[in-house]
Amino acid sequence: MISPQAIQSVKDAMRVEEVVGDFVALKRKGPRYLGLCPFHNEKTPSFNVSPNLGIYKCFGCGEAGDAIKFLEKHEHLSYVEAIRWLAKRYAIDLPEEEQTPEQQVEQSERESIAVVQQWALNWSVDQLWNTDEGKRIGLSYFHERGFSDATIKTFQLGYVPEQGNAFAYAAQANGFNPEVLEKAGWIKRRDDGSGTPWDFFAGRVTFPILGLSGQPIGFGARTLKSDKKLPKYFNSPESVLYNKSRSLYGIAHAKKSIVEQGLCYLVEGYTDVISLHQAGITNVVASSGTSLTEEQVRLIKRYAPVVTILYDGDAAGMKASLRGIDLVLKEGLNVKVVTFPEGEDPDSFAKSHSSSEVSEHLKNNAQDFLVFKASLLMAEVGDDPVKKAASIHEIVESIALVPDQVLRSLYIQQCGRMLGVNEQALISEMNKVLRKQHRKQLGGDQQTYEEQLAPEIASPQPEVEDLGTTPQERDLLRLLLNYGHERIMVPFVQDDGSSVEEETSVAELMFLMLALDDILFDHPLFREIYLDYRHSSNLGQPVEATRYVAHEREEWRSTAIDLLTDRHLLSPNWKDRHKIHVKRESEQLKDALEESVDILKERRVDRMIKERQELLKAADELGVMALLTEIVHLSEAKKKLAKKTGRVVVG
Ligand code: CTP
Ligand code: MN
Repeated sequence: MISPQAIQSVKDAMRVEEVVGDFVALKRKGPRYLGLCPFHNEKTPSFNVSPNLGIYKCFGCGEAGDAIKFLEKHEHLSYVEAIRWLAKRYAIDLPEEEQTPEQQVEQSERESIAVVQQWALNWSVDQLWNTDEGKRIGLSYFHERGFSDATIKTFQLGYVPEQGNAFAYAAQANGFNPEVLEKAGWIKRRDDGSGTPWDFFAGRVTFPILGLSGQPIGFGARTLKSDKKLPKYFNSPESVLYNKSRSLYGIAHAKKSIVEQGLCYLVEGYTDVISLHQAGITNVVASSGTSLTEEQVRLIKRYAPVVTILYDGDAAGMKASLRGIDLVLKEGLNVKVVTFPEGEDPDSFAKSHSSSEVSEHLKNNAQDFLVFKASLLMAEVGDDPVKKAASIHEIVESIALVPDQVLRSLYIQQCGRMLGVNEQALISEMNKVLRKQHRKQLGGDQQTYEEQLAPEIASPQPEVEDLGTTPQERDLLRLLLNYGHERIMVPFVQDDGSSVEEETSVAELMFLMLALDDILFDHPLFREIYLDYRHSSNLGQPVEATRYVAHEREEWRSTAIDLLTDRHLLSPNWKDRHKIHVKRESEQLKDALEESVDILKERRVDRMIKERQELLKAADELGVMALLTEIVHLSEAKKKLAKKTGRVVVG
């Protein structure tokens, strides 16, 4: 845990141009820096860094954020890791939040187990390469499997002698305490009362499991005996250092290539990872026998948006694991599937084919997971209508997990075609599932308002689009964030009709103008930010735009960054926008503000007229009169506004 104060001092110290500058060559351009975007391929620089705002933004691909976001995106660090990185960069002491005695024990236990694992790794590698038994049994086994020396070294494979206590003896001679060795999973102790230690991995070859930065956290150890009664693998027990559900075998070797390819291959076992790696497919990890966990999926998601699962050719095994994949869908990852010929797994396939054949196979056989699932289930339905209904329901349940609404409808379409089922039937089935999911989340049974709003598949686009006020609202909010503090002189009309010039801020004037006409933003996000700004200023707190740039809500951050970095500083509607841009004179700001508000007013009046015209259709005689009068007044107001905003009113 890092204390909020410490995080703040890191944030205070970090300079976005320096952090980005560590990775990207930047050139100074006026108040900004410019460089080639590290997030997409480009020849002419459109990657901007603004020291004033503490943010970067690429006008080519849209990537934007502050220094922390940059490290998260570029270096694939978690938030906490990014803070630690920055603390180091700026030599800030990160006092970890006061540790409880239990935390201290855990910390020192983690460190001592880490030391054991590193020592054990070196020891087992040394046994493999430098002892007779290691070479004769372990190394020749790996060679027989087709692993090259380079591969064996890359994956730091090792060997533990058969004798039974060689490791225990050597480790204790090196000063390790048996208790820690046991926690690390390397020794067990006889329960005959003597407590004599014995080697858990004796007579096995070892596969070190590495953490993200390459440090050993656990081991898998394969027996070399063909005795079917012996478990093929022994794995390290979980410890404060090794959490199975959070680790992926091979991630340290794969992460760079996963990022480069934008894709992660997922296989079942240690040997699949190693063989594919040797065949040149390096973006591959294994969940090591257990079914995939949520944490593992999130880990992958940090590196790539697509997971391709490599199934071996066993249909029963495939069916069994279908459910597990739902988890991946739920996390919003794009899931694909590649199958192998009957009886082959990625390991054996990689061994019996050339590197280019392997990569061709992966390329040519990748199919969408949901489509794959649908065809697999439908293949065994036959003519049985009950089975068919059950299978359709199962597929719909999976599709319902996909968070993206547009993708969901695409799947519905595609599966509808494949299954020969009416699309509308699938949609209503899906909406049932979505409602049920939603109820579950809310923990209640009654239908709630939010539930009605749950994004169902056929729901129309948000209303915001229809109103057409978004560009004006955007301009207003941009004025607020960019120039809110700027002072301007405004004529205020007094009771006696005379007017006096008074100084105010752009923000204050905007609040006043919008309040007078009772105008609120329609766009939900803009409205929230506007209200937050107004609320804070009303409390007398000066609101800095950077408050939104560094805001904890991602949508606020990206909206703010977008508005603050808008190149067209003022909208094309505005007269003489060049002058405004260059001079930013208060008079012009006021005009810009007024014009934006006027356009909003005009739209609102427009809407009111339309509403009344609608009502006319069903109104009685009296009603018609009242409505017509209102419409006349509104039309007058509209004409006046239109004259001001320079628009032509027809009719
Ligand atoms: N596994 C395990 N314990 C076992 C069997 C399997 O932990 N008793 C895990 C291992 O991570 C293994 C994976 O499940 O890599 C896949 O199992 P399997 O295909 O049997 O092992 P392979 O690694 O393919 O081993 P080999 O090819 O040497 O038989
Ligand atoms: Mn295998």
